Amino acid sequence: MKCALITGGSRGIGKAICIQLAKDTDYHILINYNNNKTAALETLKAVEAEGNTGDILQFNVTDAEQVKSTLDAWQESNKDALIEVIVNNAGITKDGLFMWMPQSDWQDVINTSLNGFFNVTNHLIQKMLRNRYGRIINVASVSGVKGTAGQTNYSAAKGALVAATKALAQEVAKRKITVNAVAPGFIKSDMTADLNEAELKNLIPINRFGEPEEVAYAVSFLASQKASYITGEVININGGIYS
Ligand SMILES: NC(=O)c1ccc[n+]([C@@H]2O[C@H](COP(=O)([O-])OP(=O)(O)OC[C@H]3O[C@@H](n4cnc5c(N)ncnc54)[C@H](OP(=O)(O)O)[C@@H]3O)[C@@H](O)[C@H]2O)c1
Repeated sequence: MKCALITGGSRGIGKAICIQLAKDTDYHILINYNNNKTAALETLKAVEAEGNTGDILQFNVTDAEQVKSTLDAWQESNKDALIEVIVNNAGITKDGLFMWMPQSDWQDVINTSLNGFFNVTNHLIQKMLRNRYGRIINVASVSGVKGTAGQTNYSAAKGALVAATKALAQEVAKRKITVNAVAPGFIKSDMTADLNEAELKNLIPINRFGEPEEVAYAVSFLASQKASYITGEVININGGIYS
């Protein structure tokens, strides 16, 4: 059974990625969530409506031990399963001016986007290397490419994720594993629900926020065999914001 694991698949962009991969591939979809089981189950229902199978998997990506024990227990009860695609999507923001930023806001954001990438990918990559095929897709951000005021923590986490993408891509390319990132701009989700689109859209050449599906299309392409010669790349999905 070939599988695609999407961290933070319960809501927003991660949910759209789970559904798009169900539409475009035969993968068994592993939907990770942290707190929101109801939302994860809704994603699973949408995946099944596309004719695919899937599982919901609760773990906090910041907790390396929990990541390991949950994935190992799942693998133990699914011995024939092989995770071919990892989408590191789980992420949070804790915005604020740097001069007033508590260390906990710095650490929480880095622990989720950057250390979450390490905890999940580092645990799964040995098997992927042995299998000599894989797709790793990291959900970065325009903030990690150009930097955003009020988001020094988030920009640092996503910028580091972009650099890690480029480095790891070079390490594993010979084993037919590609590692790429997408860098979304303003996308409609719970994360951006409190932002004023009417005002902020003036900063965006396409003049609107993006839909989660508009990120998921690119992720699905990068997860496919068609993207076999693209690695270490960052695809900006931001409606034309200069980055
Ligand atoms: N929306 C945007 O404009 C935008 C722009 C650029 C980049 N991004 C990036 O895109 C990704 C998805 O964002 P979104 O807008 O879809 O956010 P969202 O609607 O807030 O959803 C966040 C998802 O991540 C999960 N999550 C958060 N912390 C987690 C943890 N510690 N362990 C496991 N799962 C965790 C949540 O699970 P629960 O449901 O269980 O809480 C949820 O499924 C993030 O990495 C974000 O930084 C978003």
